[in-house]
Amino acid sequence: MSEPIRFYYRGAVHEVRDVAPTQTVLQHLREDLGCTGTKEGCAEGDCGACTVVVGSLENGKLELKAVNACIQFAPTLDGKALFTVEDLQQADGRLHPVQQALVECHGSQCGFCTPGFAMSLWGMYLKQEGRQPTRCQIDDALSGNLCRCTGYRPIIDAARRMVELPPATFDRAALAERLQALQRAHGFRYEAKGGRFHVPRTLDELVRLRSEHPGALLLAGSTDVGLWVTKHMRELNDIIYLGQVEALKSVGEHEGMLEIGAGVTLNDAYAAVCRHYPDELTEMWQRFASLPIRNAGTLGGNVANGSPIGDSMPWLIALGTQLVLRGAAGERVLALEDFYLGYQQKDLRPDEFVQALRIPLRRAGLRMRTYKLAKRFDQDISAVCAAFAITLDGDTVADARIAFGGMAATPKRAAGAEAALIGQPWNEASMGAAMAALARDYAPLSDMRASSSYRMQAAQNLLRRFWFETRVDDPLPATMVNAFAAGA
Ligand SMILES: Cc1cc2nc3c(=O)[nH]c(=O)nc-3n(C[C@H](O)[C@H](O)[C@H](O)COP(=O)(O)OP(=O)(O)OC[C@H]3O[C@@H](n4cnc5c(N)ncnc54)[C@H](O)[C@@H]3O)c2cc1C
Ligand code: FES
Ligand code: FES
Repeated sequence: MSEPIRFYYRGAVHEVRDVAPTQTVLQHLREDLGCTGTKEGCAEGDCGACTVVVGSLENGKLELKAVNACIQFAPTLDGKALFTVEDLQQADGRLHPVQQALVECHGSQCGFCTPGFAMSLWGMYLKQEGRQPTRCQIDDALSGNLCRCTGYRPIIDAARRMVELPPATFDRAALAERLQALQRAHGFRYEAKGGRFHVPRTLDELVRLRSEHPGALLLAGSTDVGLWVTKHMRELNDIIYLGQVEALKSVGEHEGMLEIGAGVTLNDAYAAVCRHYPDELTEMWQRFASLPIRNAGTLGGNVANGSPIGDSMPWLIALGTQLVLRGAAGERVLALEDFYLGYQQKDLRPDEFVQALRIPLRRAGLRMRTYKLAKRFDQDISAVCAAFAITLDGDTVADARIAFGGMAATPKRAAGAEAALIGQPWNEASMGAAMAALARDYAPLSDMRASSSYRMQAAQNLLRRFWFETRVDDPLPATMVNAFAAGA
């Protein structure tokens, strides 16, 4: 039987019974509730005009995160709290410090982007707890917000100013208590307007639902799927939502592997991996989409979607990641590169889902880098994404794993370049041989992001850069090879 969606909104429990399961949170706010402070710009997660903050209990802990309302479906709010720009003004009528700072610093002209900026700033305000944010933290918090008339300097000033103003309080304990009261003991099903939205809470429930509904769409963070509805106008009538399955959200270490549940958000997953590979992966973490997208999207979704230009697969493959798949017959484990069979074809049976990723921890002699080539620093799609991992025994390459995105129909290893390196000294000659082999490993496409010849030349030059950074004698520091590091 269908049950209503219940979430905490404007100080009360809000129940929703009759919106289609793919009605977005933004549509629900603006069209059903007449709450029009939250704006729609792009409807695809790119501009940030629709930014809201969602509160949820994750393994019992309260999390408050900025997300894009335009690509989240309303039923994903069940058991959570929704905050919009209308919630910021304080009970006594004073502006919230975020709003006051935007006023004082002249952070708004036409005002269309301002509610989104205010909510991203509020997300950071809650996290900073009175501490002055660094420029890097400000840039990261605002990475998903576009402004086309004010310019960013006054908004960045406001981000600094807001913590100098008399603080506004926020009762986390009370919210956690209210959310606790909203949690369901079991999964539930929401049905309306011809659509079904299943919300399992345990792995067993998920396995059962997946077997019973092999044609249903699995939904995780909705940062790919949301666009299938808002941009491709697809009708999705049977959805299984993974976002309430706690067992998919764990991070742990076993037998030399970092195991990350498929439901861990991109931001939390990258944070966990970067603790082990800070020099190698921190830039990719910062450059993957924007903070609101990383707050919602999952690493499992990135891998399962398997876009040929996705950013996580090259480095995951280069590190030797294994995928744990789960289905009615139990678990099976396979190397991530074997998961991709062809364009949009995966080794995933209709009753299966991705349960976790097992990423090898650092081994002795490992030299690894990943590079994203895109036109902007953040919130942009790669033309080419490269990952190189070699293991040196003295100055000899004992093992090499190289993988690219943007060079083939799937994320793909460079078998010829790897063979050209293994057993050879890590010197300019073997690097040159591997560069030549790349031209035989791939036949990249031309599209609006890059031409085939650009992609090939860039891929070869990234291998050269990797050598400059990791050669045995006189490796070059980041400031000599990375424009962002040089400018920092
Ligand atoms: C504005 C914007 C910027 C972006 N920037 C980047 C970027 O810089 N780099 C990049 O690589 N991607 C980017 N993306 C794409 C997207 O954010 C990622 O692919 C993300 O990891 C998808 O995860 P999700 O949890 O949102 O997946 P969803 O959208 O929920 O699902 C995606 C697909 O994976 C399937 N799926 C999800 N979880 C599982 C599972 N556990 N088992 C089996 N199947 C599953 C779904 O059925 C669906 O087919 C961007 C997207 C947007 C909207
Ligand atoms: S409307 Fe542009 S990100 Fe949502
Ligand atoms: S104030 Fe006009 S778009 Fe930002």
